[in-house]
Amino acid sequence: MKRIAVLISGSGSNLEAIIKSCNSNLINGKVISVISNNPDAYGLVRASNYKIDTKIINHNQFSSRNEFEEVLEDYLDQLNVDLIVLAGFMRILGKKIINKFSSKMINLHPSLLPLYPGLNTHEKALSNKDKEHGVSIHFVSTELDAGPIIAKGVININNNEKIETLVDRIHKIEHKLLPKIISQICEGNI
Ligand code: GRF
Repeated sequence: MKRIAVLISGSGSNLEAIIKSCNSNLINGKVISVISNNPDAYGLVRASNYKIDTKIINHNQFSSRNEFEEVLEDYLDQLNVDLIVLAGFMRILGKKIINKFSSKMINLHPSLLPLYPGLNTHEKALSNKDKEHGVSIHFVSTELDAGPIIAKGVININNNEKIETLVDRIHKIEHKLLPKIISQICEGNI
């Protein structure tokens, strides 16, 4: 059974989708720790509801990005993980930690990469009147949202689509695609 760490910053709905898939054996793995840089992330509550260990590493409590990442790196080392999933983790990581873990660190990004790296992807898709939008799952590299792509999920943008419905529809495909890809990684197929 693979050891999975999930890094979050917010709601953690994708985290919950991963946990449920582990619990129902759709993923041959276990979330051994949920790490949040945000002490108020609701994902921490979700993790506790499933009795999963949580760890807060609050970037605001460090005087530099390096110090924050040293602590994060040490903690990930201790966990001895097979896979690190960035699921709504809103910090950009530096070269050292990425180079150390890149082969086993994946990120979920809410756009059809290479379109729209960075923030506000839904707004950009709508304001550009795109016909399609979606999500990408990729290995993390030192360039933001630009590592090797593993999978994409595509949806059509409806006429007069509102951002709320778009976000909701994006979440729905994320909740299916991310556990599926994690399962494939845990099986050694990716
Ligand atoms: C997801 O849409 C993900 O693509 C983006 O942030 C959101 C996190 O949602 N990076 P949640 O915290 O998993 O509910």
